[in-house]
Amino acid sequence: MTQCPAVDERLSAMSTPNASQIATITVNGRSLNCPTIVGSEGEIGIDISRLRAETGAITLDPGLGNTGSCESAITYIDGDQGILRYRGIPIEEFQAHPNFVEVSWLLIFGRLPTPEKTDRFSAALTRNAHLHENMKHHFQGFPIDAPPMAVMSAMLNALACFHPQFLEPDDISEDDFHELAARLISKVRTIAAYAYRHSKGRPFLYPDPGLKYCANFLHMLFSQPYQQYVIDPEIEAALNLVLVLHADHEQNCSTSTVRIVGSSKANLFASCAAGVSALWGPLHGGANVAVLDMLRAIHEGGMSADQAIAKAKDKKDPFVLFGFGHRVYKNFDPRALLLKKHCDRVLKLCKVKDPLLDIARRLEQAALEDPYFVERKLFPNVDFYSGIIFRALGIPENMFTVMFAIGRMPGWIAHWKEQHAAQGRICRPRQVYVGNQLSPYLSPDQRPG
Ligand code: CMC
Repeated sequence: MTQCPAVDERLSAMSTPNASQIATITVNGRSLNCPTIVGSEGEIGIDISRLRAETGAITLDPGLGNTGSCESAITYIDGDQGILRYRGIPIEEFQAHPNFVEVSWLLIFGRLPTPEKTDRFSAALTRNAHLHENMKHHFQGFPIDAPPMAVMSAMLNALACFHPQFLEPDDISEDDFHELAARLISKVRTIAAYAYRHSKGRPFLYPDPGLKYCANFLHMLFSQPYQQYVIDPEIEAALNLVLVLHADHEQNCSTSTVRIVGSSKANLFASCAAGVSALWGPLHGGANVAVLDMLRAIHEGGMSADQAIAKAKDKKDPFVLFGFGHRVYKNFDPRALLLKKHCDRVLKLCKVKDPLLDIARRLEQAALEDPYFVERKLFPNVDFYSGIIFRALGIPENMFTVMFAIGRMPGWIAHWKEQHAAQGRICRPRQVYVGNQLSPYLSPDQRPG
């Protein structure tokens, strides 16, 4: 599989070590001069790839907050400035006419698609929206209350059984990859809708080839036999924007997982299924569900916003404000700023009166004024507003993280493709062992109680 030329050029430009900046690391009297790599936005990476061979030492960075695992030309984030760009384009540019299909193509293939390329990709999405009929039986095997994220991860893996022509990464041509990407982006939406309908005991609805990506998803989710769900164009645009803003976020937990799994040359279905599992946790994609759980707990506990804030500040109390704070953004989350604007419009449009949404508003206000949150630069993140928007749209809570997974799919695909094209080594971190030193094997009667 070959990378497109524009991306190749940027990658090789970025990979040029900068001779003028050398970092020297000295361990036990042995020194190593490490070249630095300067990214296209001036980020500096110290290349420590010879560290262990030359000094015997490794680096230790729990949470990997200071570790660059790869060079990537897909997404740029400046957490201090609140900047997020896809292939160099600021995310704010997408808000006027959000188009998830176009952004997916941009992320995966490296540049904005021409109208012909968009049409070709849309046609491939439509062609691939159906699941193999045999796959429907798998849904029946899950309990009615199966978590949709578990169903989605299992079903993405199951796709590998139905599309064996895509299992050998080295045999996939650029044209094949176009088809593979379209299959995943289209089918993940059908899987999500079927998981929901199964949980409700409702019949599955086939995708409608006449509908666009978001409208088709809502149709499969909410239409009744003989009664088509009609989507308001503003709601369709808001949903497009939510998906666009989730489409990639460089080396986050789930994307790194996809890259790590892919580094073993595992196929794209298996790698993305692993990404879904990583996304599920409440500190990552599961935060949008945790936000609603938290609002409900506050509501049912009769707590005020101030009391909730006091609990979140109390270090002895495990309660945290879900939907607040971010590992990378330390001033504001640019995705949250855009969603906040649309959130207000959607709430008005849907004429929603909801006590949980009122609490969300009060919490947001209180947290933005409280010194604990201000000093630690903890502000509402993307999950705070996406949870509120999903609730207003009538999307059930257990589907919130699934929505995130649908949105993140093009990012995972783009990273898998980039990593595969770079032909890197298998990911295999080291550790600092802190367990027992050499110990004898004791027979059962010698073992201490
Ligand atoms: N509520 C209360 N205190 C918090 C919160 C919070 N949500 N987040 C961080 N803090 C405190 C933390 O206790 C620490 O305090 P101190 O300095 O006194 O020890 C300080 O703020 C710095 O936090 P940190 O632990 O360095 O932050 P981190 O970078 O390790 O973690 C985070 C980032 C997103 C996991 C965390 O802020 C959090 O748990 N937030 C709630 C979960 C959430 O909303 N996650 C979604 C993230 S956005 C979606 C995505 O991109 O995945």
